[in-house]
Amino acid sequence: KQLTTTLYASRRPSYVPNHISDPNYVRIFDTTLRDGEQSPGATMTTKEKLDIARQLAKLGVDIIEAGFPASSEADLEAVKLIAIEVGNPSGEMGQKVLAGKVAGEVGGEVGLAGNGEGVHVPVICGLARCNKNDIDKAWEAVKYAKYPRIHTFIATSEIHMQYKLKMSKEQVVEKARSMVAYARSLGCNDVEFSPEDAGRSEREFLYEILGEVIKAGATTLNIPDTVGYNWPREFGQLIADIKANTPGIENVIISTHCQNDLGLSTANTLEGAYSGARQLECTINGIGERAGNASLEEVVMTIKCKGELLGGLYTGINTRHIVMASKMVEEYSGLMVQPHKAIVGANAFAHESGIHQDGMLKNRNTYEIMSPEDIGLFRSNESGLTLGKLSGRHALKSKLFELGYDIDGKELNDIFWRFKSVAEMKKVITDDDLVALVSDEVFQP
Ligand code: KIV
Repeated sequence: KQLTTTLYASRRPSYVPNHISDPNYVRIFDTTLRDGEQSPGATMTTKEKLDIARQLAKLGVDIIEAGFPASSEADLEAVKLIAIEVGNPSGEMGQKVLAGKVAGEVGGEVGLAGNGEGVHVPVICGLARCNKNDIDKAWEAVKYAKYPRIHTFIATSEIHMQYKLKMSKEQVVEKARSMVAYARSLGCNDVEFSPEDAGRSEREFLYEILGEVIKAGATTLNIPDTVGYNWPREFGQLIADIKANTPGIENVIISTHCQNDLGLSTANTLEGAYSGARQLECTINGIGERAGNASLEEVVMTIKCKGELLGGLYTGINTRHIVMASKMVEEYSGLMVQPHKAIVGANAFAHESGIHQDGMLKNRNTYEIMSPEDIGLFRSNESGLTLGKLSGRHALKSKLFELGYDIDGKELNDIFWRFKSVAEMKKVITDDDLVALVSDEVFQP
């Protein structure tokens, strides 16, 4: 098999705290269980969430946002369970928390994804609005993890502050500052802050509030394009401006969180990484509020395919677990993946036109920029060819050979024309159809 991409995973550092790290290492923050679950109808059971969290850990996700504990008792319990089972497999940190001691480590560890040894222990994160009740609940749930994180947010755009919060700028800054400090005072050493609707917020105000929360102890600053309103150049510039103008920014990680309302979430996320963000928030299959969130598989595979062009960026994701994660989320959330979805759609590695099939048979790199095995797709259909009305003789012959028929010359020609007439009537020609065509030919008088 030809691999067209470079395997960066082996370069993953052995420990990825926020403050000491390879500047090219990009953390993947998965919010399938929080933003993803906010998709209409996507509610999942605790057992399903735990299964997904385990799969995300296998995938090598650095941070799992496991839920919004203040939203319901059930969500709190689910986040707590994930913190214990996935965030602390050795039981070590939970006991320390129970004994009233909290370690000063910030960030997750490498595991299966990076070096093939041990169990990967991701950071477990809980979402909280900027109020004490939410933060208490988030801490109650995540504190059992070896690497717990509280993610707190408040809106900073004019429209949100005026109509939703009914608060002045000064009040919003004070709330953000005091609540980040409160989260730290509970013993949580890893606190993420998001200025909600940053994509439509005034720049100078963002620099001010972000500078204040850094002083209060925030370790990650997440910049959400909450309504998916930015376009790539604009979002990249926003990240670059924040990086250049926020006091103390060099001590924290900048993160992106891009919604997909204009279909630009993956592009915006990548532009954010190019401009200096080193944590990218995304979801499996791109599920999330309204039109969804940046899709983890698209973001990760783009970095894998084009990491050098992006200045040597790489992630710690073991991409071979992508397909399994996608199927699991599809089944549990009930949100079906469209056939032409990039990376994980049923047609992502299917080749139907005659010209493409001919090229593929000569060299797979003619029409595939990554190999299906890279994402954990081991197809029973070895050639990856889907026969249809545009397929040529070469593809038909190869497919028949795969099915055990070595047919040439006039016999192949006759079958080819019969195949064409069937293909005019049927959208997809199955292996059974082909076997029937060959049998007809062979047994005709
Ligand atoms: O879209 C958004 O702004 C969010 C924040 C809570 C990060 O989901």
